Amino acid sequence: METEKKKTALSLIQPSGTITLGNYLGAIRNWVAMQEEFNCIFALADLHTITVRQEPAQMRKNILDAYASIMACGIDVEKTLFFIQSHVTTHAQMAWILNCYTQFGELSRMTQFKDKSQKHADNINAGLFTYPALMAADILLYQADLVPVGADQVQHLELTRDIATRFNGLYPNVFKIPEAYVPKTGARVMSLQDPTRKMSKSDENVNGCVHLLDPPEVIMKKFKRAVTDSEAVVRYGEGKDGINNLIDIYGAVTGLTREQIEKDFDGKGYGDFKTAVGEAVVEALRPIKEEYEKLRADKAYLESCYRKADEIAQRISQRTLSKAMKKIGFVQ
Ligand code: TYM
Repeated sequence: METEKKKTALSLIQPSGTITLGNYLGAIRNWVAMQEEFNCIFALADLHTITVRQEPAQMRKNILDAYASIMACGIDVEKTLFFIQSHVTTHAQMAWILNCYTQFGELSRMTQFKDKSQKHADNINAGLFTYPALMAADILLYQADLVPVGADQVQHLELTRDIATRFNGLYPNVFKIPEAYVPKTGARVMSLQDPTRKMSKSDENVNGCVHLLDPPEVIMKKFKRAVTDSEAVVRYGEGKDGINNLIDIYGAVTGLTREQIEKDFDGKGYGDFKTAVGEAVVEALRPIKEEYEKLRADKAYLESCYRKADEIAQRISQRTLSKAMKKIGFVQ
């Protein structure tokens, strides 16, 4: 799984609900594509999810659903490490260490913290605030070169680079400085109901977010109800956030450019376009759903996959943790 020459690509996703079309187009699709060229390490960031309250039975279900969904998207556990974060003890240990090398001011500037503390004003816990230090630990433990993420995670990645650079300045050669790897199309999929906000699992309006496992008729309904504008021309432009988002989604699933899409829908109305986008998304997700049903039914197989990966992840990450602790001055 690990080779000498290949660069390491690493990324995690929160299993805090079913995987969304945004997660797929912004991140997972890239993960799948990177498996040949890179030494790939992916994981479910379940420790991150408890920064927001979770219902225990639902949380257990979400984790297994997410594991099976991501495998169904095309993550091949024979060549890629795909583990569960909370099963690998080094993440929480390294997060504590990195907390002590991360500044209050840096964490205060994180837009995700500001957004989430507005959304959950009754529970602005310390974990929500120090979340980026755990994310930095996830990445730096594995000496990752590239981190395939959607545009919303770039700020966290920049902070990871700052923390690693600061740490290396004090204790040379501990961490590799990673780079973000953001896709050209699908990097920021917006809500279908409020296209000025990113599509998110926690969207209060269920019609704003398409889930990978939504039945085809639900997907079609969500696209047909998508918020647009009154111009009724399928063209990319300012003040047309809804149509811009639909054009980008259509482009991401069909591979067509914005110009080609505008040409194909010249003279056609929004109704036709929304139907075409819905159908294209349904078709793209159909094989994933079929594979998911098969995988999810075999709990023992899923468990054997993550247990194997957890063990390897523990071993790889322990090397970096031990090195960092030694340099800091802990007794070995
Ligand atoms: P999360 O779980 O919110 O999202 C997982 C991945 O999906 C991308 N994404 C999107 N891309 C395009 N449009 C959207 N609407 C959209 N919504 C989500 C995200 O950019 C991400 O790549 N903090 C991370 C998880 C994490 C992580 C890490 C990522 C924990 N440790 C280490 C990389 C490396 C998060 O909450 O992603």
